[in-house]
Amino acid sequence: MSTGSSSRDRVPRKSGSEGDSESRPRLRIEGLRLRYPGQLAAAIDGVDLAVGSGELVAVAGRNGAGKSSLALAAAGLVPRVVQAAVGGSVWLGGVDALRASAADLAGRVGIVFSIPARQLSGSKPTVREELAFGLENLALPRDEMDARIDRVLERMGIGHLAGRDPFTLSGGEQQRVAVASIVVMEPQTIVLDEPTAQLDPAGAQAVAALLGELAAEERAVLYAEHRSTLLGAADRCLVLDSGRVVAFDAPGQVLSSRILVPLGLEPPTIVVLAEVAGIADRGAFDEAAVAAALAGSRRHRERASAVLGRPRPAVDWEPVRDHPPTAVEIAGLVHRYPGGIEAVRGVTLGIPPGQRVAIVGQNGSGKTTLVKHLNGLLRPDAGEVRIGGASVGGRPVFELARTVGFVFQDPDDQLFNRTVERELRFGPANLRLPAATIDRLVEAALEATGLAPQRLANPYDLGLSERKLVALASVLAMDPAVLVLDEPTTGQDGPGVARIGAIVDAVAAAGRTVVAITHDMEFAAEHFERIVVMRAGEVVLDGSPAEVFAPERAPVLASTGLEPPVAARIGARLGLGTTPTLAALLAALDGAAAGGDRAPVPGRTDATAGSPPPAEATVPGGTTPSAGPFGPPSGRSSPASGPSARDAS
Ligand SMILES: Nc1ncnc2c1ncn2[C@@H]1O[C@H](COP(=O)(O)OP(=O)(O)OP(=O)(O)O)[C@@H](O)[C@H]1O
Ligand SMILES: [Mg+2]
Repeated sequence: MSTGSSSRDRVPRKSGSEGDSESRPRLRIEGLRLRYPGQLAAAIDGVDLAVGSGELVAVAGRNGAGKSSLALAAAGLVPRVVQAAVGGSVWLGGVDALRASAADLAGRVGIVFSIPARQLSGSKPTVREELAFGLENLALPRDEMDARIDRVLERMGIGHLAGRDPFTLSGGEQQRVAVASIVVMEPQTIVLDEPTAQLDPAGAQAVAALLGELAAEERAVLYAEHRSTLLGAADRCLVLDSGRVVAFDAPGQVLSSRILVPLGLEPPTIVVLAEVAGIADRGAFDEAAVAAALAGSRRHRERASAVLGRPRPAVDWEPVRDHPPTAVEIAGLVHRYPGGIEAVRGVTLGIPPGQRVAIVGQNGSGKTTLVKHLNGLLRPDAGEVRIGGASVGGRPVFELARTVGFVFQDPDDQLFNRTVERELRFGPANLRLPAATIDRLVEAALEATGLAPQRLANPYDLGLSERKLVALASVLAMDPAVLVLDEPTTGQDGPGVARIGAIVDAVAAAGRTVVAITHDMEFAAEHFERIVVMRAGEVVLDGSPAEVFAPERAPVLASTGLEPPVAARIGARLGLGTTPTLAALLAALDGAAAGGDRAPVPGRTDATAGSPPPAEATVPGGTTPSAGPFGPPSGRSSPASGPSARDAS
């Protein structure tokens, strides 16, 4: 699969070629206003938008800007399914969607939600039957149904899951099924709300390609996203802020610093680089063009700091509880699920105290299964896990929770209290800490996550990105020695990702060990000193970001659905060696242009700045960063070298 730049073949697509009824936009929104019950502010405050057949329109904006509300209204779910006061109009073909019945809208529109568990029927025993479920209502002949299902299984790369129970799939596998379950219905207009939040990079590329194909079939496509792969693939991109349209134009135009920085957002890294190179107006998402222009320009760091504006906020974490330095040791771990799937197939990892380790790998590669052994949620079929030198075997989850904090991939698996504050108090109260300590921990966790204004809110009334933060805060409030995060940045906007990165840095600086699963390679490169790459239940690469994202490693990464972050891809194109972060790339560019020094760029952190020159990343069977199962951990980057490398500005 091609990487990075907008890879969709541009098929000329024009509306208006098929007679009058087709020349109308498939989706037309006029003067839309939408306010939820009990809310003072409008979620959508006067939006006009038309999406023609064959058009691909992306919606960007901060969390809470109104993207999901716009998606719900565009799909005809407001106010029929989702209660809200609405004004203006939404037309889907010739149908008034604000007043239409479900039957009126059948075949005209389908929506993919950001949380796959909410999409799936919950009543179908297999993925194939789940996909057939919607089609049965369309009364299609059996062989056409089968043909459609086979096609969409192939398009989404999930043929091997056809016979599986949807609710035993990994998060990303479920999300692929959720997208497939709507695409298979072939609606004229398809609306997607962050359809790639849990997908590996290859999965996100596949969805971008699929949306392009849907548009080429003259469908209208509208999707909300944070991922630049998807945003850059759109014909036009709408930027929302506080329910209003701030900009609506080609992605390279609207995802610029001029528009995004005043809203508190940063442009995607590829657009930052295009601006640095002075070609943002022409080829912002064209990596080859950006690389060529960068090679011919100078003073890259200086220009980048002008583009990025103010520095990112830092987070402080004062250790409250006394923990001895706590290493995590995994030796020969094997896990089989009932039914025989061997999800983890002999993993050995030694993680020294205070290290920040990112675990990456394709959907279904066993990441979640692996980390669920760290706090006893799952028990090994073979091998052993030790935390702080003591075997996990036989110790109950509540006891392990004194040491290991675990934040779930899906926050709804974790949250159950009526208010955010109660949610945060629950953990430290269970640890029987003194009242004053609990207060201090709760306040510190609210402060670190920025949730203080929502302390009295019911977590279920919050959006996905905030619920993820509540889940994180509820674990931070226990100040664990080892913090385990399963996809912490899912659904977060740029500032949210930066905040979580700052929390990771601060917690590690306080001596805590952090293990995080992520599909965001930029996040991994910027905030983690070590990256472990999994494929089909095994570790296939293990090293620093500079090692794992070195150009020679790209084929191994690709074999597990990953690609190096954009800075590394551009560095590789220019023969600059390994440049896993924006800071490293800019420094290498400046160095190449002038032989200058290597100061980091203001505003971005760089876990790898100051780390030794790249050595070989290890591969299975080779030397591993730890000294073996339970030997002394070697700590390939000392904990002190990471956070201290953070730029002070
Ligand atoms: N409860 C379960 N029962 C049976 N199989 C399961 C169960 N949970 C996960 N699996 C399977 O185990 C394998 C590993 O799943 P896991 O959730 O660990 O993957 P992951 O790497 O975390 O994926 P993702 O990136 O999609 O979250 C997959 O093949 C998945 O389908
Ligand atoms: Mg997972």
